[in-house]
Amino acid sequence: MVENTPNPFRINSGNNRVYTTFAIELTSLSLAQAPSPLSPEIEQKVNAILSKITLEQKVDMLGGINTLDVRGYPELGLPLLRTADGPIGVRNDGPATVMAGGISLASTWDPGLAERVGTQIGRDARAKGKHFLLGPGVNIYRSPLNGRNFEYLGEDPFLGSRIAVGYIKGVQSQGVAATVKHYMGNNSDYDRHNTDSVIDERTMREIYLPIFEAAVKEAHVAAVMDSYNLTNGEHLTQNSRMNNEILKKEWGFQGVLMSDWDATYDAVGAANGGLDLEMPSGKFLNREKLLPAIKAGQVAEETINEKVRRIIRTELEFGWPERNQQDLSIPRFNLEARKIALQAAREGIVLLKNDGNVLPFSKSKTKTIAVIGPDAYPAVPVGGGSAQVVPFSSVSLLEGLSNYLAAGAKVTSARGIMTLGVAAIATNFQTEPTNGDRGLKLETFDNEDLSGPSASTGTNQHVSLGLPFDISSIDLDEIDFSSLRTQHGSSKRWTGYYVPKAAGTFNIFVQQGGFSPSGFRMYLDGKLIFDNWENQKFVVAQANLPLSAEPHKVVFEHHTGEGFSPPFIRMGIIPEGGWVDSAAEELAAKADVVVIAVGFTPQSETEGWDRTFELPPGQNELIQRIAAKNKNTVVVLTSGGGVDMTSWLDKVGGVIEAWYPGQEGGTALAEILFGDVNPSGHLAATFERHWEDNPTHDNYYPEKGTNRVVYKEGVFVGYRGYEHNGTKPLFPFGYGLSYTTFKYSNLVADEHEVSFDVTNTGTRAGDAVPEVYISAEQSSVPRPPKELKGFARVTLQPRETQKVKIPLNGRSFAYWSGNAWKVEKGDYDVLVGNSSDQIELRGKINLIRDFVVVYMRTSTGYARADGGSFVQGGAVEPGTRIRIPQRITQDLILTRVQPVYPAEAKAAKVQGSVVLSCRERWKRKVPPCNE
Ligand code: BGC
Repeated sequence: MVENTPNPFRINSGNNRVYTTFAIELTSLSLAQAPSPLSPEIEQKVNAILSKITLEQKVDMLGGINTLDVRGYPELGLPLLRTADGPIGVRNDGPATVMAGGISLASTWDPGLAERVGTQIGRDARAKGKHFLLGPGVNIYRSPLNGRNFEYLGEDPFLGSRIAVGYIKGVQSQGVAATVKHYMGNNSDYDRHNTDSVIDERTMREIYLPIFEAAVKEAHVAAVMDSYNLTNGEHLTQNSRMNNEILKKEWGFQGVLMSDWDATYDAVGAANGGLDLEMPSGKFLNREKLLPAIKAGQVAEETINEKVRRIIRTELEFGWPERNQQDLSIPRFNLEARKIALQAAREGIVLLKNDGNVLPFSKSKTKTIAVIGPDAYPAVPVGGGSAQVVPFSSVSLLEGLSNYLAAGAKVTSARGIMTLGVAAIATNFQTEPTNGDRGLKLETFDNEDLSGPSASTGTNQHVSLGLPFDISSIDLDEIDFSSLRTQHGSSKRWTGYYVPKAAGTFNIFVQQGGFSPSGFRMYLDGKLIFDNWENQKFVVAQANLPLSAEPHKVVFEHHTGEGFSPPFIRMGIIPEGGWVDSAAEELAAKADVVVIAVGFTPQSETEGWDRTFELPPGQNELIQRIAAKNKNTVVVLTSGGGVDMTSWLDKVGGVIEAWYPGQEGGTALAEILFGDVNPSGHLAATFERHWEDNPTHDNYYPEKGTNRVVYKEGVFVGYRGYEHNGTKPLFPFGYGLSYTTFKYSNLVADEHEVSFDVTNTGTRAGDAVPEVYISAEQSSVPRPPKELKGFARVTLQPRETQKVKIPLNGRSFAYWSGNAWKVEKGDYDVLVGNSSDQIELRGKINLIRDFVVVYMRTSTGYARADGGSFVQGGAVEPGTRIRIPQRITQDLILTRVQPVYPAEAKAAKVQGSVVLSCRERWKRKVPPCNE
């Protein structure tokens, strides 16, 4: 207990104004999961190994090898270290369990489940002998367009932190290093190597950094991956401010900071900018570049030592030199993991709409169910790119429903619309306006800009070059990468005429893929209708245009540069009304109920690209046409975030957001559709009605003529932004329907804890997800109308009531003020609800004094001093004695505590370090506890 602790708060909770004065004790420190200590023993061993390595060997260690590995030195007892993607399963070296994607996991609001998912991924990694798992991916969801949202944890830093911490703890519990990625500002996959995310300090601290911060401070994540983009003018791999100052110095990150694959751009910059390990190889961090720089004094030898120290320290902390990382006793076909994958799918799926209780379908009354749509079969467990794990087997919606219903009902099915490949081939051209040949004239150039005479000419029937790049078919350890590379740049021009059979509106689409730099543009009757020559906005681009029944001149130009994956491009023109297979309509008309599975796939939502807000071509039409045949139609969406539903939402009975539900998705969906599982997922991101409504809409792309993406919306991202702007979203953050109903009552709140009762008032068992938001009634800076600061998941039988207690701490009220987490005195509303937009209980907390939240680093981790926890006036005087209550010392070895943030310390007037008393047993065990 702190001597002379003042009474810093007055509380008013709920409607009954109760003023309570109390002393905050050190027990109020909310203790972080203790990182493993910088043990003197390990440090000694690290230094001993370091002293045996030559400078050349040290430099070699800073660059990866074999695409995914970190060099080993068997003679020094250091094994080769192997990495694998992440985050949805263990991608490399054959199949593995495919879990629900990141945003789906976040939508479970279940950190315990995230930990179980992490644990199983850790086991799969051990089964494959992997040391580093390249996940979790935690970049904040700014807009639905980001092609990698499906991997990430949604729009809220608090929710994301809880999920990430659970996941990391799980992975690391298996002796596998988690790698939190992509640090940071990588909130889109548009031109990801070049864009510069311009983010002000407060916004970084409040929105984009907290998940990384929690990963380091709470979960003791062993590795961090620097992203491709620049943030505030500097590529992350050479961004000393982000890497050295914030990550390593302020947060005390002791692990390995690795680059994303080919995200390093400068040797000296990266060496001094904090990067420890360049992946997949030392293109910059190598002898040739670093040795002269060290000699010239541009890079200090100690800087190199420090990087190697981090790599070796991590190896020793995890005990890798002492064991075979491949644990052959763990079955690769991991049945335990399958169960967890199923549970994650069940909890993450969100019921968005259920008009007239169309759901759950009645098992007894449903004799025929029509399953329609491109995402019904085959299964779409995961989006595209490095996250695309191949499962041993996966359950599609069609299979899930068929297995579930067995002989009880007839399951009919149809894809319902053409694939884009078929649509491209169904698009016919002629070489001249009249009397031409079928097809388009093709000119091919040996350069990337269509310059000079063409190297060859000919005729193509269609614009369809190559095939979609399927990363899931690659086993990165065994493939000859050169066969997958485009070795030379080239460009092509197709010229011809499209002649509609009748005038009307036409859907024009272009599909691309892969990771080679490429671009296209398209002219229709001399007018540029797509200009994606320099940069690609969407992996599948689309436009709807009116055309008369005459020949229309088409010029289509494409270029590909050297890079990973062969050229691939397709273009098609389909008249509106021409997409849908009438057999699907027939099946819908005959069925009792219809499920339409639409959305994206790894070919339309993937790393390396962004995606459209519109569903892929033809899908809106499919929903409209099918819904017109059967009013008991439910749409199941596969996507990493919001899509445009305006053209069909009011025409269908139900809508389910399945996200990418992992390999067991079809089973979970069948259980939810028929009510064996009561839906309980809640949106981890706001779904807007129109893309224009999104707070980032006007500044999602770089400012004209620059690479600068200015995060002008500041902290007003997601629900913080919609509420600030007064825009009603289609489905708010935190929203999710259930087949039962919940009632909230008896709110009691103080600055430590919010408690209330939740009752299941319906007739089915179900999980409630109460969400606790805090709202500052007044503030000296503009603050979001409300912010999530706590939540729970409570399983309740019909009529059951449970008391829920949710802890709060200084950060629950704080904003980043210049250089510290500041809490202003005054009234704060405590809002408890079913979503950010459906608040059921309101209370008030009154804080009577301003304070600063100070983080103290201890020998084992962090303690957080909230408010006047430590001493009078928010200042910690040197030598202040604090008696440590027993229950804290069990978790924490407190020795000499120092403010972690010099800036915060200054703001809090902290001078010097604080000597804390240690309990006897710690005194004996821990030498630095020098009392
Ligand atoms: C991705 C990373 C991934 C790495 C290795 C990169 O392209 O951005 O998330 O871990 O590849 O596959």
